[in-house]
Amino acid sequence: MQSTPTIDSAEKASQKAVESTMLSPRFYTTDFAAMDRLDISGVRAEWDTMMAEYEGDNNHDHFQRTPEFAVEVAERFSQVSPEMRQEFLDFLISSLTSEFSGCILYNEIFRNIENPDIKQLMRFMARDESRHASFINQSLKDFGLGIDLGDLKRTKAYTYFKPKYIFYATYLSEKIGYARYITIYRQLERHPDKRFHPIFRWFERWCNDEFRHGESFALIMRANPHLLRGGNVYWIRFFLLAVYATMYVRDHARPMLHQEMGLESSSYDYEVFRITNEITRQVFPVSLDIDNPAFRSGLAHLFHVQTQMDKAKARGGVIGGLQRARWAVSGLATFVRLYFLPVKHHSLPTQIRMAPAW
Ligand SMILES: [Fe+2]
Ligand SMILES: [Fe+2]
Repeated sequence: MQSTPTIDSAEKASQKAVESTMLSPRFYTTDFAAMDRLDISGVRAEWDTMMAEYEGDNNHDHFQRTPEFAVEVAERFSQVSPEMRQEFLDFLISSLTSEFSGCILYNEIFRNIENPDIKQLMRFMARDESRHASFINQSLKDFGLGIDLGDLKRTKAYTYFKPKYIFYATYLSEKIGYARYITIYRQLERHPDKRFHPIFRWFERWCNDEFRHGESFALIMRANPHLLRGGNVYWIRFFLLAVYATMYVRDHARPMLHQEMGLESSSYDYEVFRITNEITRQVFPVSLDIDNPAFRSGLAHLFHVQTQMDKAKARGGVIGGLQRARWAVSGLATFVRLYFLPVKHHSLPTQIRMAPAW
């Protein structure tokens, strides 16, 4: 299913990156004064170890293309179908937008605060995300579809999030980003014939950066435990569901991409959720019960709603508008039902940090 126009020019690639829909990655801004007041002294030892890792920068030479890169694109990627090519471009653009979203947010926090711990962290994370975004952009440039990142920064809409929402959402997107990249990497390691583009070779060391970014937010939240208790648990449940549901619907809109790798969108997504659930125990006192049949059918229904919304949008006019409204209500009702499904509760481990062992 392709709900967007064909991406065949740099202009259309940029439009795709700029658009703000329910499912597209967003840009964020936050309350810098509140960020400045953060105290991480409760996790000082683990924090300092992590900072030393950032300082050591073991991926400083990783995001360089080798001469074989272009050869592989020419020989292997040229064999994929035009529809598959579109799904891959959509994947590259949404990945680039979310990498760059992190880069902008971390850089803006860095520029607007004085708190030495948080400032140093933001500088390191912005460094990493900038490398990730540029590396993806090089692959778009191979097809003449490079995105002007300065322009994107100026023209895309920004969403304001309180710091605690930034922590929940960004922690999750870093960890789920790790789980997504490592699941693809492991699959293609087992089936190298299915590696249809060389960029996937970079995913293993790349996702270790994302893992560490997630660790940073885990430490910030564990150092401020009120963020993980009481009414905030309801926010954690909301963000878990919102992030999982968005990923599920977005991934199911590009089934060929997963097929080409020998994966299937649903099993891939549930593997990613399983890994993410294991990781988030380091910080969240609850996790979603991803094996509950009502959870699975709810997510499947959300994807159905999305396809119906796309059809109604394409139809247009009064009827199309009414149909869209009807499906929006259905989607919202399903989301609410999913939200109130029982969750799993667990106590938080004494040792916060984890190793990327998947
Ligand atoms: Fe990244
Ligand atoms: Fe990241």
